[in-house]
Amino acid sequence: MVRRFLTLSPAISRLNFNPRISFLAASPSLGLQKHYNYKLKTKIPTISLISPSSALNFRRTRSYSTGTRVHSLPKSETSKFDDNLVVLGIETSCDDTAAAIVRGNGEILSQVISSQAELLAQYGGVAPKQAEEAHSRVIDKVVQDALDCANLTGEDLSAVAVTIGPGLGLCLRVGVQKARRVASSFNLPIVGVHHMEAHALVARLVEQELSFPFMALLISGGHNLVVLAHKLGQYTQLGTTVDDAIGEAFDKTAKWLGLDMRRSGGPAVEELALEGDANSVKFNVPMKHHKDCNFSYAGLKTQVRLAIEAKEIDAKCPVSCATNEDRRHRADIAASFQRVAVLHLEEKCERAIDWALELEPSIKHMVVSGGVASNQYVRFRLNDIAQNKNLKLVCPPPNLCTDNGVMVAWTGLEHFRVGRFDPPPPANEPDDLVYDLRPRWPLGEEYAQGRSDARSLRTARIHPSLTSIIRADSLLQQTQT
Ligand code: KG4
Ligand code: ZN
Repeated sequence: MVRRFLTLSPAISRLNFNPRISFLAASPSLGLQKHYNYKLKTKIPTISLISPSSALNFRRTRSYSTGTRVHSLPKSETSKFDDNLVVLGIETSCDDTAAAIVRGNGEILSQVISSQAELLAQYGGVAPKQAEEAHSRVIDKVVQDALDCANLTGEDLSAVAVTIGPGLGLCLRVGVQKARRVASSFNLPIVGVHHMEAHALVARLVEQELSFPFMALLISGGHNLVVLAHKLGQYTQLGTTVDDAIGEAFDKTAKWLGLDMRRSGGPAVEELALEGDANSVKFNVPMKHHKDCNFSYAGLKTQVRLAIEAKEIDAKCPVSCATNEDRRHRADIAASFQRVAVLHLEEKCERAIDWALELEPSIKHMVVSGGVASNQYVRFRLNDIAQNKNLKLVCPPPNLCTDNGVMVAWTGLEHFRVGRFDPPPPANEPDDLVYDLRPRWPLGEEYAQGRSDARSLRTARIHPSLTSIIRADSLLQQTQT
């Protein structure tokens, strides 16, 4: 049933041209699937993001609440920790307001996304303040719709999961505040989710046989990560970007080529690239001589900008109004950029697989997820790389690759099952509560061999990694027992 549902899913989500809410609902009792779309009456402004949870610690303005970490589950509760678990997931880390309800067996009961596409087009990127306002305007409705579509009320839920990082602090706050209100009203435990872990783990909802350890390439607008997933919450970071992520390069290329940004830049470049000659513009593949698994897209962005200037392409003239020749130039640049951007992923992934197999010879799967993984060319090329190394590629369906509430609910479920959650928040929390959000929050511990000299070491205000927090937590548990 889940699979059938997922094949229906790509129609929704980010591919919204107008500010609106779209959602898929599957009635748990009837097994029916419906797809609704409707326009919002208010105009949605722009942006933003957050993440799991051993440490959803919320700070009051003065005093601290450390939050409970791992709970041992009373025997009477074990029945709760099976297929009957029902978790609400809330995602507001970047430019989409999303909520979903997922059952312990992976059944998606509802999925709702309000896109800020119009704002993205208007500002040419994510503007934190406008994004925060947009999230605040729709968050109540998005969560209520998720409950309604699933034919549930808050009383039917087992827990609430919410992204707490990485992402834009202002935006994360909206989701966390809402999650705490729901959890407090219905006396529910709360699970803080790492956005990038959620991108990786949603693959386990899609592919039942995907077990730890596995490797994952996570490619989005803000992150370019290749990790080895040892077990839940335990990751080794094999590589990351030294500057920009691939999604950022797609977005800028789209903007400079005068493409329609209302469904984000990536899909627009992918579509135009189909018309172009991918070998016509000679772009250099980044970091060819670096024998590591790190990425860099800033230089490729510059190469694209120079190629656009050389052809005197005017971004203010939309591609739909361009002459045939102008359109061909734009398509050639889009196709050539996409080829080289993906070639860079391929080269680094090949090495990362070798490293991963040395560290964990039993791995059988490579997950590719995050917004850019919805690109068909990316999926096709990386499938070849995985197959050549005897790994099976697991790519979630496109609407589960881009930001969504399902991945948050599912990751919340995974942590909740092992007792990693915080207790229900108290009633009537003050509005000036300062939450422990993690805008800059690494997923795993860096693999020493993979450290890059090219990396700009911006370490200010970086939170300890999810992996180190969970490890420290487990050690603490062991010493206490
Ligand atoms: O994971 P995501 O939805 O949000 C972040 O966490 O950033 O990823 C968004 C990124 C954007 O840069 C968007 O342009 C890119 O994913 N993207 C694509 C495609 N669909 C979304 N890039 C290339 N091809 C696509 N089809
Ligand atoms: Zn994302």
